[in-house]
This record gives sequence, C-alpha cells and structure tokens, in this order.
Amino acid sequence: MAPEESAGTAHLLRSFEHRYLAARALRSFPWQSLEEKLRDSSDSELLLGILQKTVKHPLCVKHPPSVKYARCFLSELIKKPSGDSVTLSESTAIISHGTTGLVTWDAALYLAEWAIENPAAFAHRTVLELGSGAGFTGLAICKTCHPRAYIFSDCHSHVLEQLQGNVLLNGFSFEPDITANSGSPTVMLAQLDWDDVTVPQLSAFQSDVVIAADVLYCPEIILSLVRVLQRLSACRKDQRAPDAYVAFTIRNPETCQLFTTELGQAGIRWEAVPCHDQKLFPYQEHSEMAILKLTL
Ligand SMILES: C[S@@+](CC[C@H](N)C(=O)[O-])C[C@H]1O[C@@H](n2cnc3c(N)ncnc32)[C@H](O)[C@@H]1O
Repeated sequence: MAPEESAGTAHLLRSFEHRYLAARALRSFPWQSLEEKLRDSSDSELLLGILQKTVKHPLCVKHPPSVKYARCFLSELIKKPSGDSVTLSESTAIISHGTTGLVTWDAALYLAEWAIENPAAFAHRTVLELGSGAGFTGLAICKTCHPRAYIFSDCHSHVLEQLQGNVLLNGFSFEPDITANSGSPTVMLAQLDWDDVTVPQLSAFQSDVVIAADVLYCPEIILSLVRVLQRLSACRKDQRAPDAYVAFTIRNPETCQLFTTELGQAGIRWEAVPCHDQKLFPYQEHSEMAILKLTL
C-alpha cells in the first residue's frame, strides 16, 4: 500500500473509532469515503479494521453502547461490501416474451461504468430511467452514486415483473425508507409506455436526471423515444429541465443518424460524452458504444 494510501486508511479508521466511541449520529460517519476505498480495493481487511476499532474496541466491549446503536451501525456497515456487486435474474434468450428487456445489454454496462466514474451527475438527485429492462444500470447507480430517488420504468409487464424481483434481490425495497441515516435512495417502479405517457404523468416524477440505455435499436423506438423526451422537456417550465443521458451501441450508423436528426427536429440539443476507458464490466470487445448528453 502506498504511504499516502495507508495514511488515508489510518485516518478513516480513526474517524470511525472516534465517532463510534462518542456514539455520534450514524449519518456523521464517513460512509462515502469508506465506499470509495472499498470501490478502489474491495478491501475486506478494511472492514475488519473498522470492526476492531468500533464494536470490538476494548472500551466498547467493556462499556457497550445501546444494542440499537450497535445494530444500526452494523447493518449500515454490512451494506458496504455488497455495494460492489449487482445480482440479477435474467432470461437466457436475447428476445423472449416478445421483448428485448429481459437481458442486460452492453450499453447498460457502459452507462453504469460512466455513472460509477461520475457519481456527482446522480448524487442527491431524482433519476428517471426509461426502458430499464433487467435493471442493471439503475441498480449500479443506486448502489454507488447516492441518488435521492430512482424510478425504474418500462412498458412491458414481464420486464417489470423481473425488474421488481431484481430490485428486491439487491436489497432495495419499494417502501419509503424511514431510517434517515441509511443513505439508501427511494426506489420506485413505474409502468411507463413512451407512446402513452402524458406531460402531467412525467412531471409528477420531478426527475432531475433522465437516462436510457440501448433504446435506439429500430426507427419506431427512436421516434417514440424522441417524443417522450420532448414531453419531458415540457415538464418543468418553471424549473430546470432534467439532464438526459442516452447510451447505445453503434450497430448501425443510420440508426444513430436518425436519432440525432429527430433530436434536431424536436429542438433538443445534444453532445457526445467523452468515451471512458476504464472497463469494469465484461462486454463485447469490439462493440462501439456512445453516450449522448441531451439538453431538454
Ligand atoms: C434493448 S432493451 C434495453 C434494456 C436495458 N436498458 C439494457 O440496456 O439492458 C429495451 C427496453 O426498452 C423497453 N421499451 C421499448 N419500447 C418502449 C416503450 N415504447 N416504452 C417504454 N419502454 C420501452 C423494452 O421493454 C426494453 O426493456
């Protein structure tokens, strides 16, 4: 471990120790720094170190804090390593039940990688995802980017059923979280069809960020998507319109061209987000991927 890294770890351990010995509010603990460290190194030694400095500290063994305090602390700590993984139930077929939404597509992985590198784009914000499919991107964002609320959406009933299972499988619930210190986002699931959804329905989500992955695979879908983006831009006349990010695999340049042309006609400006190199997830080596940031 580099000297500055070990100094950082020692500082983090001390912060946990001091706060725990003083029985400080759980929200004052440096959870975010811990998550960042775990993300960099998945260091189980670090978690053991925190246990030694807190619950197993000789002073705490002799004069333990309340059982409730220790339990809340431990349940918060236990959540941290699981932040490294997303577990999904998926179909084995690319298309089943007439939908492409039961498997995770490469653009979902690519967008999740970008989100993990750019958590500030989502932190403390309400995110609406269009065409969530199996839910990979959203779950990765919920686990690593600290959104205030995350709305998974799709139009297909089988997809929604599987998505609901995947959200629960990853430890999120659709109940409002009453443990104010948990830092968990409010998670919602919406049946939302881009062809039917109205401006008032979209406004009700109060989204600050809209994302979508792999939703440009045929001309009809592109036209529907641009229409829903236009409605989203009409949502918050008096407030800032949401930021929108659309990730896709460039399978066919004409399809991408159609998307940007339709965006232009709808008066939606766009810019390409610079490519990121850090591959966290396995996907096809040579597939070309892009993310467009839209100004709604
Ligand atoms: C190729 S899948 C991508 C799923 C996921 N975002 C991913 O990248 O793994 C496209 C998703 O868009 C959804 N979808 C297609 N047309 C839609 C529409 N009109 N309204 C809402 N969702 C739609 C499908 O049900 C499907 O889940």
